[in-house]
Amino acid sequence: MRASFGLLFALIAGCAREPKGFVVGFSQIGAESAWRVAETESIRSEAAARGIELKLADAGGKLESQVAALHAFLARGVSAVILAPQRKDGFEPALRELADARIPVVVVDRGLDCDPSLFATLIASDFTDEGRRAAEWLIAHTQGEVRIAELEGTAGSDPAIERKRGFDERIAAEPRMRIVKSVCAEFQLPKGKEAMEAIWKAEGGGIDAVYAHNDDMALGAIQAIEEAGKAPGKDVLVVSIDATKGAFDAIVAGKLSCAVECSPLLGPAAFDAIERLRRGETLEKRTVVQDRVFDATNAAAERPNRKY
Ligand code: AHR
Repeated sequence: MRASFGLLFALIAGCAREPKGFVVGFSQIGAESAWRVAETESIRSEAAARGIELKLADAGGKLESQVAALHAFLARGVSAVILAPQRKDGFEPALRELADARIPVVVVDRGLDCDPSLFATLIASDFTDEGRRAAEWLIAHTQGEVRIAELEGTAGSDPAIERKRGFDERIAAEPRMRIVKSVCAEFQLPKGKEAMEAIWKAEGGGIDAVYAHNDDMALGAIQAIEEAGKAPGKDVLVVSIDATKGAFDAIVAGKLSCAVECSPLLGPAAFDAIERLRRGETLEKRTVVQDRVFDATNAAAERPNRKY
């Protein structure tokens, strides 16, 4: 049986690696959204505040580059790794190599389909619940038939899979709500706009609401709706997930109907986990980040407090 990461980490950190300095490798997916840029900054600034050397590897949205970054961290012998995995699959072999080398991995933001003994802990929001809450907002604020366009995040990623699952589960109980088209726009604003233009054309404008798996895609869809001569937030309701500053501005302007929060400010929790591992503690396998829901009733009051 594999010994606890915490104990092994404490032993290793206390001898072989410590004299060379404490270095954390952070494998980041890329910078596809405002959310992800904020997450990178949260990890970077927290490392700096704690005086920990951080090696940041931005994979530019490529799974192969993320896996290559993990191999590079292994070769360098970093003290610990923070991983924000693009997809749920594809990481197990590299994680096994890190585990064999006794390098602990703290997974942030997105979950993995792999042997759970290969990482120390997962710190992330409940994406299924986010999808449910977006659906609940739409159900509560509409009447009659609602034809929905769905803009999905990156295929195979935890948030794309779970946000879809949660939303679908909830609207299944409401026969008047129907997703007429789902298109993958990879969490990116320009792709969200393009996808919305294509859906609008294909459906002859017959769309009552947009469910976007993140704010960037929603903001792209808002542009497309306006260019089609319609009023987002009135003619077409738009709901999304993240609750970035951009989303708040769009809610206050009456163009975005609702944003379910998903916090990217994971740096403090990630480094708390690493410090606890250093002390030899065994971590809970999963920490769920608590999120809120914002719409026209509470967005203006919260806007000045937004950190991302
Ligand atoms: O994994 C979190 C998601 O990834 C955020 O909702 C999205 O904006 C990001 O790109």
